[in-house]
Amino acid sequence: MASEKPFLSDIQEIRRRARQHIENGAVTGGYRGDRDTVIRLLNEALATEIVCVLRYKRHYFMAQGIHADPIAAEFLQHANEEQGHADQLAGRIMQLGGEPNFNPEGLLTRSHSEYVEGNSLLDMIREDLVAERVAIDSYSEMIRYIGEDDITTSRMLEGILAVEEEHANDLASFLADLDGK
Ligand SMILES: [Fe+2]
Ligand SMILES: [Fe+2]
Repeated sequence: MASEKPFLSDIQEIRRRARQHIENGAVTGGYRGDRDTVIRLLNEALATEIVCVLRYKRHYFMAQGIHADPIAAEFLQHANEEQGHADQLAGRIMQLGGEPNFNPEGLLTRSHSEYVEGNSLLDMIREDLVAERVAIDSYSEMIRYIGEDDITTSRMLEGILAVEEEHANDLASFLADLDGK
């Protein structure tokens, strides 16, 4: 039985559209996202990740005290993972025909999370946890907004979100550990 709704648009139509505007690379006529908005959101996420790299690097070098070693190692790991996220985001912005914004001017304004130095190990962990929770909420919102209109971007963001959740979880455990000492 022929399905009532064809799975794909007419293949001839897809072939015809693929030949149009080939300079747009991965972005075809079938792209359903609002490209300018998606690029803007990705640039905000990029700024957020860069701020997180800087904050975690600061915390990594500043972490001192009897309980600091494993926590400093975790800060460094998070810094490296946030850097990886920044690179993924910049790569996707390029694929969508945008330009990744690495301009230090306005970085904190574009970023969702804040750069808080923190005075003690406990402070640093707390601030990092707050920043991760901001990231979790903003990535969730982006994924819901973009949805199936741009599946590749959504999937990339889902992967990043899962890592931010791990980060938050790691920090919450450190916090619970330190509070008990
Ligand atoms: Fe990240
Ligand atoms: Fe994170």
